Amino acid sequence: MAKVEDVPENGTLGVKTLDGNYLISKMDGEITVLEGRCTHMKGPLRFGKVIDGSVKCPIHGARYNLRTGEVTKQVAIPLIGKAKDLKKFPVTIQDGEIFIKE
Ligand code: FES
Repeated sequence: MAKVEDVPENGTLGVKTLDGNYLISKMDGEITVLEGRCTHMKGPLRFGKVIDGSVKCPIHGARYNLRTGEVTKQVAIPLIGKAKDLKKFPVTIQDGEIFIKE
């Protein structure tokens, strides 16, 4: 789905495939693949700012831990619903290429 070297260190890379949108992160060299759309209202997390190991949704500000997908901060406006944890995909790396095992 992408090369390890294309993912910025302590940053993210958004990838779209026929199967969906994914957010790949590399935190201290560790590659993690999460679903790429916010669970609240499908905000594109590839445009989210990385803050203290979390990505902040650019739409309503929910934050997700980039290693686990867990919500670390809820939607900024409580009356419009809540975010749920992102799905995390198991990953394999072969010859510098990242693959997910569904
Ligand atoms: S769409 Fe992401 S917090 Fe609302």
